[in-house]
Amino acid sequence: MGFATTAIHAGNEPDIATGAVSVPIYQTSTYAQEGLGKNKGFEYARTQNPTRLALERNISALENAKYGYAFASGMSAIDATLKLVKAGDHVILGDNTYGGTYRLFNRILTNYGIEFDLADTSNISDLEKAFRPNTKMVFVETPTNPVMTVTDLRAVSELAHANGAKVVCDNTFMSPYFQKPIDLGVDIVVHSTTKYLNGHSDSVGGFVALNDEKDAEWIQFVQNSVGAILSPFDSFLVLRGTKTLAVRMEAHDKNGRMVANFLTEHPKVQKVFYPGLVSHPQHDLAARQQSGFGGMVSFETGSLENAKKVLESVKLCTLGESLGGVESLISHPATMTHASVPQTSREKLGITDGLVRISVGIEDIEDIIADLDQALS
Ligand SMILES: Cc1ncc(COP(=O)(O)O)c(C=O)c1O
Repeated sequence: MGFATTAIHAGNEPDIATGAVSVPIYQTSTYAQEGLGKNKGFEYARTQNPTRLALERNISALENAKYGYAFASGMSAIDATLKLVKAGDHVILGDNTYGGTYRLFNRILTNYGIEFDLADTSNISDLEKAFRPNTKMVFVETPTNPVMTVTDLRAVSELAHANGAKVVCDNTFMSPYFQKPIDLGVDIVVHSTTKYLNGHSDSVGGFVALNDEKDAEWIQFVQNSVGAILSPFDSFLVLRGTKTLAVRMEAHDKNGRMVANFLTEHPKVQKVFYPGLVSHPQHDLAARQQSGFGGMVSFETGSLENAKKVLESVKLCTLGESLGGVESLISHPATMTHASVPQTSREKLGITDGLVRISVGIEDIEDIIADLDQALS
């Protein structure tokens, strides 16, 4: 089946009890059991819930994964994935992941004996140098947030596997519509469903998708033992969101390209970061690895003062954190999403005080461009 068909039908079988076409919100904490050890496959709602199960089947099908687990947030999905490594293990973390991912490693996981090093995963020889005998995992995000650096997932997977390490890819920016990391050799895909998968800025959630049975059993064990599960209502919302993922992503991509082109030609903009631009240093890799470029665009205004003026002058675009919703959101990475990244690292990565990031929504493109134009003026 094609992507849009899978998105609408996988996990979405009519309800067995009533025939309801939309999977109901099973808002229950427990289930009546027919007798000792006899039940309908559902015992307690932290362990299993039919609405969550439908979503888990849906997103794992979209990622071409056999197994999938829905979590209370993207961060809890990432945290559960990191429970595949133990004290004394070493992880290579992309040097430009979401700030919260870096914070999880730097402030929490290191307290539990997990070693990590940062590496530019877009540079294979840099990455090669970071491997140690105890490296068990490579964690990448591509394209990165907010400077849109692209990592070659196939090359990273080959290198990691040759060194006995698993590869985890945060696929939040592209969504499975534009990028399928598992098809490129990646072992585990994580998502903040808060973003494109849900798509309507009204739910926080996360997802882990994978093929290895043993690792899947462990992720499920962690999901149940720690209990950071996605609620039935949020599972319903994300399931509703993925039904329109294909049409939304096409619209984000179309608007994203037009905003990137507009900004490239604007005299007040010094640089535009968007892998869809032919001038992007990794445009060819992005075009090969992704089937679209999406709606995330960053641009350099030259100074904090200029960035502040733009951010405070927009009228249609909403100043706020997050991304991937139908509405255009604009943010200042240095003080918002990446505030937990040390300033020296931010500067090295190009996350300057003048950098502005837009999550281009699916409003009429003329309105988005008119808003940015008046804000830049
Ligand atoms: C790429 C990426 N991964 C993970 C996360 C964390 O997800 P959540 O906010 O759902 O915990 C975010 C949040 O912005 C993100 O942008």
